Amino acid sequence: MIGVIDELFDRAVFPSFTNIGYMLRRPFWRRADLEVDLAGRVAIVTGASSGLGKATASELAARGAEVWLLVRDLTRGNKVLEELSKKTGNEKLRVEEVDLSSQQSIRAFVRRFRRKSKRLDLLVNNASVLLDKRQESVDGIELTFATNTLGYFLLTQLLIPVLEQSAPSRVINVSSGGMYAVRLHPEDLEYKKRPYDGVRAYAETKRAEVVLTDCWSKEYEGRGIFFASMHPGWVDTPGLARSLPRFYKLMRPFLRTPRQGADTILWLAVCPTISQADSGLFWFDRRSRPKHILSSTYNTDAEISQFLRECVNLTSR
Ligand SMILES: NC(=O)c1ccc[n+]([C@@H]2O[C@H](COP(=O)([O-])OP(=O)(O)OC[C@H]3O[C@@H](n4cnc5c(N)ncnc54)[C@H](OP(=O)(O)O)[C@@H]3O)[C@@H](O)[C@H]2O)c1
Repeated sequence: MIGVIDELFDRAVFPSFTNIGYMLRRPFWRRADLEVDLAGRVAIVTGASSGLGKATASELAARGAEVWLLVRDLTRGNKVLEELSKKTGNEKLRVEEVDLSSQQSIRAFVRRFRRKSKRLDLLVNNASVLLDKRQESVDGIELTFATNTLGYFLLTQLLIPVLEQSAPSRVINVSSGGMYAVRLHPEDLEYKKRPYDGVRAYAETKRAEVVLTDCWSKEYEGRGIFFASMHPGWVDTPGLARSLPRFYKLMRPFLRTPRQGADTILWLAVCPTISQADSGLFWFDRRSRPKHILSSTYNTDAEISQFLRECVNLTSR
């Protein structure tokens, strides 16, 4: 019954995605789900220098995990490391400079990681951008797609062997409710044929993360890796303030705190009772949610295969 009411409430978007939704649902959540000792576990969190990534890293650190904070600015990353070490007393935090829009940077990081760590229990793909103008990465790929889709894709693929070796392990892909409005356009993933629309380009990469999660859960079935995509609701982060300033100003009193937005990331990462059978699902506020609301956002199997081929081709150069 609570599930049905929650589902109906979720369709109303505004109260559901805001701090109102969080406050109303929180009393029904089990405290024990997050009371987990992560000593001896190794986690990677991308985009750990701010917002949801920082909040997630902080909670993992507080539970004793060895957390690798992936940041693109080492000075800011070191400040966050210092802050989180002091706050949590965890001395097993590491900071790594990685530009997730650069394939060379991702490959170099994975080589360093594999030399230093024998295991990986958790990968949180969280770093993303929303741009107002079309830009290209150092690899000559449209920057939103390069960061939000190919960055998630390449990092995860390169880490699959160590995730499998450390099974049971988990991969959490941080998507957005914006993906509900769009479908994949495998014929134009980089906005070479259509006029650029930053919000749409972002939403399509967020749809891509949901599709990748689904594909990985099928491809690696039986290998002990749990895959999940999720959306955090609307959260007061530097990223939101920068990329959607008018929405941010209007919604500020109703935005979730980064800790509230990170709750489901953390829950998916640590809850001991999550079932491997639920791998591949899309989550919000500790409950699996539909991946589509509109019939126009479905892709055919052929389109999804074309999308996957593009991801492989563009990361094999
Ligand atoms: N805030 C919301 O309301 C909301 C809603 C739906 C979904 N989300 C999702 O939540 C996730 C986190 O976003 P946020 O709101 O916390 O935004 P944020 O504060 O801007 O955090 C994004 C992080 O990604 C990092 N990043 C961006 N490009 C990178 C690159 N090329 N290489 C390495 N790191 C890079 C940023 O680093 P810098 O600090 O150096 O820029 C930052 O640490 C994103 O996936 C976003 O789509 C957020």
